[in-house]
Amino acid sequence: MPAVIAARGLVKRYGRVEALRNATFEVPEGVVAGLLGPNGSGKTTTIKILLGLLRRDGGEVEVLGLDPWAHEAEVRRRVGALHENPAYPLGERVRSLLSHLARVKGCRGDVDRVLRLTGLSEYAEARVRALSRGYLQRLGLAIALLCEPELLLLDEPTAHLDPGARLEILRLIRTLREELGATVLISSHIIPELQEVCDYAIFIQSGVVVDHGSMEELARRHGVSASYRVEARRPRLVASRLVAEEFVEAVEVLDDYVVVRVKGGAHAQAEALLSRLAAEGLVEGYELRTASLAELYARVVAG
Ligand SMILES: Nc1ncnc2c1ncn2[C@@H]1O[C@H](COP(=O)(O)OP(=O)(O)OP(=O)(O)O)[C@@H](O)[C@H]1O
Ligand SMILES: [Mg+2]
Repeated sequence: MPAVIAARGLVKRYGRVEALRNATFEVPEGVVAGLLGPNGSGKTTTIKILLGLLRRDGGEVEVLGLDPWAHEAEVRRRVGALHENPAYPLGERVRSLLSHLARVKGCRGDVDRVLRLTGLSEYAEARVRALSRGYLQRLGLAIALLCEPELLLLDEPTAHLDPGARLEILRLIRTLREELGATVLISSHIIPELQEVCDYAIFIQSGVVVDHGSMEELARRHGVSASYRVEARRPRLVASRLVAEEFVEAVEVLDDYVVVRVKGGAHAQAEALLSRLAAEGLVEGYELRTASLAELYARVVAG
C-alpha cells in the first residue's frame, strides 16, 4: 500500500525545546491512524508540519507525495484539517460560512452533503455562536471535509467534549471514513476511546516515534491480544466452535461463560463470529475485556 504520509527523521525545535527528535513513521493509504502520545509529546507539532504550517528543522516529510513546506497550497487544498484550537467567526451562519470557505479554498464544495454527513443540516441557518462545543467540533469536521480531501488530519477531535459528545464524534469519524474512503490521522492523548476507530497507530513520546504500525502488527509485535467474555448457555459447545478458528489463541470454559483470547487485530473477525453465534442462539452477549490499544499504549509508551 502506498504511504500517504512518510516522515523520516523529523526534527523540530522551539528555541531550546526539541519538540520532535528524529520522528520517523508512515501512514498507509486508507487507514484511520491514531497519533497517540501524552501531552506535550509533539502531536500538534507533527500535524502542523504535515500541513505545511510549520517548517521542520531537519528530516524529510512527504504528504500525498509532496513536501508540505514547499507545496503548502496544494497540500492545504487536498488535505482536510481540524485544528487543535480552531476559531470560527461567531456571527456567521453555518451554511454561509461553509459556502464562503469553499469559495476561498477554490473548491466546488457540496455544502449540503457535508452538513448531512456531519449531522449539521438542522443547524445550517444557526449562527456559529449558538453551537454547543460538540456541534462546533462537527462544524470543524464539516470544514475539514468541504473540499473532498484525500487525507484528513484531526488534532484532538474529541477535546473539550463530554463523554456523550466524544462518542458521537468518534462514531461520526467512523461513518465518515466509510463514506469518504479518505485516509485519516487522529491525534489524541485519550487512548481507550480510539480503540474502535483506529486500525493503525503511531505512538509518540517526547518527540520520538516509539513505534507505529497496523493494530495487528503492533499487537503481534508486543504480544498483546484481546479477550472476550462470552455469555453462553452451552459454554462447551461455544468453546468448541471458537477453538476451531485460526484467530483464536485460547479458550477457557467457566460456569456460564467462556473467555476467548484472540490474536491482536482480530477483533472484527472475532466479533463477526460471535454475532453469528448469537444469531444461532448460542451466545447471549459478549464483552471485550482487554482494550488492546490501551494495553499496547501502556507497553509501548513507558509510563
Ligand atoms: N510555539 C511554541 N513555542 C515553544 N514551545 C512550544 C511551542 N509549541 C509547542 N511547544 C512545545 O513543544 C512540545 C510539543 O508540543 P505539542 O503541542 O506538539 O504537543 P502535543 O503532543 O500536541 O501536546 P497536547 O497533547 O498537550 O496537545 C511541548 O514541549 C511544547 O511545550
Ligand atoms: Mg496538541
